[in-house]
Amino acid sequence: MCGIVGYIGHKKAYPILIKGLQRLEYRGYDSAGVALISEDGDLNVYKAKGKVSDLEACCEDKDISGCAGIAHTRWATHGEPNSTNAHPHYSASGRLALIHNGIIENYMTLKEKLVALGIPFKSVTDTEVLVQLIEHIMLSNELTLLEAVQVALHQVIGAYAIAILDRKHPDTIVCARQSSPLVVGLGADGDFYLASDASPIAEYTDKVAYLNDGDIAVLQPGKELKVVNIDNETQHPKVKQIDITLGQLEKGGYPFFMLKEIFEQPACLRDCMRGRINVGADRITLSAVIDYREKLINARRIIIVACGTSWHAGLIGKQLIESLCRIPVEVEYASEFRYRDPVIYPDDVVIAISQSGETADTLAAIELARRAGAFVFGICNAIGASIPRQTQTGVYIHVGPEIGVASTKAFTGQVTVLSMLALCLAHERGTIRAEHYKEMVRELTLIPAKLEKALESNEQIERLAPIFTYAKNCLYLGRGYNYPVALEGALKLKEISYIHAEGYPAAEMKHGPIALIDSEMPVFVIATRDHLYDKVISNIQEVRARGGRVTAIVTEGDTQIQKFADHIIVLPDTLECFQPIIASIPLQLLAYHIAVCKGKDVDRPRNLAKSVTVE
Ligand code: M6R
Repeated sequence: MCGIVGYIGHKKAYPILIKGLQRLEYRGYDSAGVALISEDGDLNVYKAKGKVSDLEACCEDKDISGCAGIAHTRWATHGEPNSTNAHPHYSASGRLALIHNGIIENYMTLKEKLVALGIPFKSVTDTEVLVQLIEHIMLSNELTLLEAVQVALHQVIGAYAIAILDRKHPDTIVCARQSSPLVVGLGADGDFYLASDASPIAEYTDKVAYLNDGDIAVLQPGKELKVVNIDNETQHPKVKQIDITLGQLEKGGYPFFMLKEIFEQPACLRDCMRGRINVGADRITLSAVIDYREKLINARRIIIVACGTSWHAGLIGKQLIESLCRIPVEVEYASEFRYRDPVIYPDDVVIAISQSGETADTLAAIELARRAGAFVFGICNAIGASIPRQTQTGVYIHVGPEIGVASTKAFTGQVTVLSMLALCLAHERGTIRAEHYKEMVRELTLIPAKLEKALESNEQIERLAPIFTYAKNCLYLGRGYNYPVALEGALKLKEISYIHAEGYPAAEMKHGPIALIDSEMPVFVIATRDHLYDKVISNIQEVRARGGRVTAIVTEGDTQIQKFADHIIVLPDTLECFQPIIASIPLQLLAYHIAVCKGKDVDRPRNLAKSVTVE
């Protein structure tokens, strides 16, 4: 939620900031703003409601000179999206400008004190409190900006990544983080970049420092990166090399990132398995399992914590791990788990799944699990994000940056990692026969080619999509491994087309939802060939008998279902437990094409943000 960018050095800041905001727009897009210290030494702030393009239009006739600036794209929490509430916020005297990602929980108390001192406020945001507090402390105690930030942050409760410009010190940006991500890029010319993730920085430098909670960084061109904490103790964040190509950050000829990411999946899953499955395709090696073998194979129980799509991947992981490793698995919404006072044993293994690695609820669930003494394992995509740094070990899914708000390749990457993990643990625990293990590993390596085949249904789905644009509600049904696929298909449709959709275990339908079925209600059934196939056919007949219109996702060679379904989409066959990876493809494409037919902004659906860094 909210994206932050900053630059200070010898280049013009404005173009770098605007490009950076475009890269971060997936984090929020209800308003945007930029602050620049001009060549004349003015501190100019420009803001606009809407997208980054609206900000650019607003800046057309403005002074955009200067080599130091900060910029922000907002996902509103406190105060409606308008240009007053947009960031950056000026301090009362106009000397400071500040941007913020996060939530200041005690902002009301702080604001009351500042208002009582006669300090005027323009917006209704929690963020403006920070800039007024910092300036008030700085002026009334004759402190430097860094000192004032340290004193102010002692009083602040909440989550923040902030960056501040001071008109009187145009050669400095001060920034700080607590529970919201912040990355500093170290340019070759002694210049500094700053962003919520590495994507706006990758174009200029591959050297980055991920700030840790409590870090305050002082960026001054030509000087060493200075990092201290609120008590002024020097900190040493590691400088890392990032490996993000520009092609990964651009649409590459596709109209939307989501479609590009759907089509990238075969290549992404090859990347995900590379180096982990050997050339002979009969062994999986995960370094996390080698390093923590005893802890993992002796787990009394596994608890998976995640949100949204990652939670759906967790439901598939549960079935894989229970059936292959015979370890009991619970799957929890991180947002519920963190507040539920759950029973956690020291010999539990908690697996946190997150694409972004920054989801606030998942981070809080990890903290709770660690406090209870459990071993915490992360499955994450964004390299260097908070979750991989706060878990004891883990596995990256390596599917490259996912920019479309609707998660696609991260989901199939997560299920692929969970498959490898389950197979690895089963092998180590001796709960799988050697031949079966080899057969499964071999089959997993064939999945990318099968995804290529599944993607051939794109044109058929594009032709089908207009039929469903009228729908107000849709039902997605699946059983066993395909039940989470139904949930995920419904979530995809909801979030980008705004059609209400529900995912349901097909057999549960007769306990309630069947009452909804009529000829107006499209029903999508995942009916691939597995041990529940005949039962799913019965469920389809129950829908048909009530006038429901069925689109079935079936396995190639199926001749039965076409008798009962209005439309069928054919997929390559695989083992039952890997079917979710393949069956997700047509559902992603369906959601995409329906949303496009309805004229929706697929990559930036209303009210959503890619990275949910507030609870
Ligand atoms: O980054 P995470 O995987 O932790 O994000 C979790 C959810 O916010 C995310 O999966 C969300 O549900 C997606 N928009 C779904 O497409």
